This record gives sequence, C-alpha cells and structure tokens, in this order.
Amino acid sequence: MKDATVPKDATAQQDGATPQQPAGTPPTLLKVTGLVKHFPIRKGLLKRNGGAVKAVDGLDFEVRAGETLGVVGESGCGKSTMGRLITRLLEPTGGTIEFEGRDITHLGTGAMRPLRRDVQMIFQDPYSSLNPRHTVGTIVGAPFRLQGVTPEGGIKAEVQRLLSLVGLSPEHYNRYPHEFSGGQRQRVGIARALALKPKLVVADEPVSALDVSIQAQVVNLMDDLQEELGLTYVIIAHDLSVIRHVSDRIAVMYLGKIVELADRVSLYQNPLHPYTKALLSAVPVPDPRRRDRRERILLKGDVPSPIAPPPGCRFHTRCWKATEICSTQEPPFEAVTGDHRVACHHPEPVTAVALPTPVVRTAAAPAAPGAPAAADAETAEAGAGEAAGTADAAKTGAATTGTAETGKAAAGEPDAPATDEAAEADSDAAPEPDAGTPDRDEPAGPLKKKGKPAGPTEKKGKPADG
Ligand SMILES: Nc1ncnc2c1ncn2[C@@H]1O[C@H](COP(=O)(O)OP(=O)(O)OP(=O)(O)O)[C@@H](O)[C@H]1O
Ligand code: SF4
Ligand SMILES: [Mg+2]
Repeated sequence: MKDATVPKDATAQQDGATPQQPAGTPPTLLKVTGLVKHFPIRKGLLKRNGGAVKAVDGLDFEVRAGETLGVVGESGCGKSTMGRLITRLLEPTGGTIEFEGRDITHLGTGAMRPLRRDVQMIFQDPYSSLNPRHTVGTIVGAPFRLQGVTPEGGIKAEVQRLLSLVGLSPEHYNRYPHEFSGGQRQRVGIARALALKPKLVVADEPVSALDVSIQAQVVNLMDDLQEELGLTYVIIAHDLSVIRHVSDRIAVMYLGKIVELADRVSLYQNPLHPYTKALLSAVPVPDPRRRDRRERILLKGDVPSPIAPPPGCRFHTRCWKATEICSTQEPPFEAVTGDHRVACHHPEPVTAVALPTPVVRTAAAPAAPGAPAAADAETAEAGAGEAAGTADAAKTGAATTGTAETGKAAAGEPDAPATDEAAEADSDAAPEPDAGTPDRDEPAGPLKKKGKPAGPTEKKGKPADG
C-alpha cells in the first residue's frame, strides 16, 4: 500500500489536461480531447436554426487498457451522448477521439468497419435492443455476418460458446428474445457485444432496466468477463452504488462537462467538487450508526437547460460555495493531486487517501492483484448491504437531481445512427415484453467488490434457467 496523498501545491499541474499518472499506469487505449456534440434545434416550418442542445461540451479524459472507467451524472448531463460519440455512433461537433493512438474522430462508415470489432456497445434496454423477430442465434451471430468473419468451428458453434460464456445455455440458440427474462436478455446483449473479441466495451446503463435482484448478477458477469477476456470498460450509470462497485476510475459529469475525475477510492473518500459531494451524500449507507452522522446535501433548483448553460461554472446556480468568479470564469479542469482532476475554483480540501494500485488486466494473465487494505476496507464498508441498496441509489439520483429531461423535450427525437451497426441495433427495436414472460434468472448474489482478485465465474457454462 502506498500513501499517495501529497500537498496540493506540490502536485498541482500547470497544464491542466495532463495529470501525473501513478507509476505502472497501464497504456492509454482511448484518448478524448475537447470532445463536443451540439444538436442543432430547427424551428418553425422553414426549419430555421434555433440554437443547439449542448449535450457534450468539451470533454477531456482517457481510458486505460484493462480498466473500468465509470461515468456518472444526472439525467440529461450527456452520458449517453458521450458513449455514442466514443463508439462513433454519433459524429462529433468538435474535439478529437484517439483509439490506440489513431485519430478516429471523423472516420467514415467504411473506415470505421474494421474498428467496430475493437469497440462495442452494450445498450441500456434489453427489451428494445434485441430484434423480436430474430432468434438469439441470429442476433449474437450478426456481428460475424456484418464483419464477414467466420470463426473457427463456424458461427453456430461460436455463438453457442458465447451463450455459455455469459451463463446461458447453448440450447437457447433457437429461442426468441420474448422467451427470456430481462436479465437473460441483457446476457444476450453482452454476448453480442463480445462476439468479435472487442478491446473496449462501452456499456450505457447496462443494469438500470433490470430488476434490482438481477442487477448484481449482470454486474458480476461483466466483472468476470473483464478478468477473463482482458476487456476495457466504460460503464455509464446514474446509480452511484453500481458505479462504486464496478469502476477503477470515475468521471462525474454535469451539464455536458466532466467536473471531476479520479480513481474510485479518492473520489469516494475525498470528493473535491461540490457537485460530487452532493451526489455522494445521497448514496445510502448500510451502517445505521454512520447514517446518522452523515450530512445529506440537497441541491437547490433544477438542472439548467443544456441549450443555454450558465456562464462561468455551469454548477454555480446550484452551488452553495459559489462566489463572484464562479459566475464569470469557467474553472479549468485540472489535476489537484496526483491523478485527481477537478473543475472548481474552490475545491474541497485534499485529505489523506490511500490510492489503489493501477489495474492491469490481460486475457491470459490471472486477475490483477487486489487493491491495498484501505481500498478493501472501503469497499467492504459498502458491502453486501449496499449491493442490495442499488434500488435506493437509483432513487437517490432523482432525489438529488430533480428533473433534467427539459433539454430532451426541447431537443426532439435523437438523430439517426451514423453507422450500419447502429442501424442494425436500432432496427432491433422491440415492442414491450410479453406480460407473461417468466423470469428465469437465478436469485441474485451479492455484488463482487472491485479491486479484489476475481473468484471463479459462477455461471460459466451453466444455464441460467432451470
Ligand atoms: N439526438 C438528439 N437530438 C437532440 N438532443 C439530444 C439528442 N440526444 C440527446 N440530446 C439531448 O442531449 C442532452 C444529453 O442527453 P443524453 O441522452 O446524453 O443524457 P444522459 O446523461 O444519458 O441522460 P439519462 O441519464 O437520462 O440517460 C439532453 O438534453 C438530451 O435531450
Ligand atoms: S467553481 Fe464555484 S460554483 Fe463551481 S463548483 Fe466550484 S465553488 Fe461551486
Ligand atoms: Mg443516457
């Protein structure tokens, strides 16, 4: 274990965008610089330009090989737009996206096609992301056909292997989506995303549409698959309990910007941005003695519209620490200590935090060594009680945030997807699930804790239904 706490002045970065990285930091897989997505608003019969929804408005971050970067923030802050931008399902308005050092920002459909093998997306809603007219075999086998790839042993055998990998039965090959429960459908979506052995998987709210009892299963499955296949994840969620369990590092978004980015332990033990502090204060604490001592911060007002975000710091209209400078000057997003970046003129004081060792995972190698004792203690404190508390946490998102759907309503329907795969995914739109569909998922176990060596994959090769 190392005590990475350093006085703020000793480590503060002057250049802002390039923080110090702990020794042994894995290589960067994806690098995003100044990423912007503005959705134009067309007004009236003549479709005149009526401004733009600034869904993503200047993001700087990197994703390191083998890690899980969690992205949290209130509804409408631009998380999904960010996910769709980095998977190139949306065309950025500005900024750059580099994957393995290659600029992919404006690659066309043809040039993106080979890259689609490496970058895959898991969608939020397992009910609408699977085509009800296709069998599971066709759905999971689609990436092979789209890419013109024939795996060794043939597509059917490979699809059946993938179904086993995600805890379904090879016999499910000929079944239709409506014959599965929500958790099983999400497993099908995961199998489809993993078909081409991607390097980066972007999962947009992968468990939020699932019953709370099934969430832990899917999270644990994704964790096991990461260890086994050496995957890198970007996991988007508004549920801080889920994010806490799955992430190595966490980015907090507010109104189209990242306001804080740090490793999980630093972020939860020492949030520096007032917004992060408020979000975390709403996470349920399983220990009733600690619950009483904790200060709950209720944010005032609604999230401002992304069409006309406030000047200066976008959070100043709701921030209890705001001063004059906050409403006139945008705070730079810069490293305050080590790898901990924040965009705030008056960040919280830096306190002692024991940082975990950076995660390095490879498909062949055994699981990364466990995090140091402090990290384990921190996750243990969250514990199974909190795992069960994910439903509460989902509610707390609403409690702290109010409504942020206003921009959505103003903005109208989403753009058409930019790629053939996106079209494929969208063409998979399904009606509501059958009311009578039996839920055959196994009862949920507790969430596994990040930073510990993975145990055996409980469901590997084992059918999820009886
Ligand atoms: N295709 C689009 N056209 C116009 N506006 C859009 C489009 N897609 C998203 N927006 C707007 O961009 C903003 C960010 O939306 P986004 O879906 O990325 O938010 P989010 O953080 O994923 O929210 P949630 O947690 O509700 O999923 C919202 O105001 C939304 O209305
Ligand atoms: S810059 Fe000012 S308004 Fe913004 S979060 Fe910091 S203290 Fe609050
Ligand atoms: Mg979203």
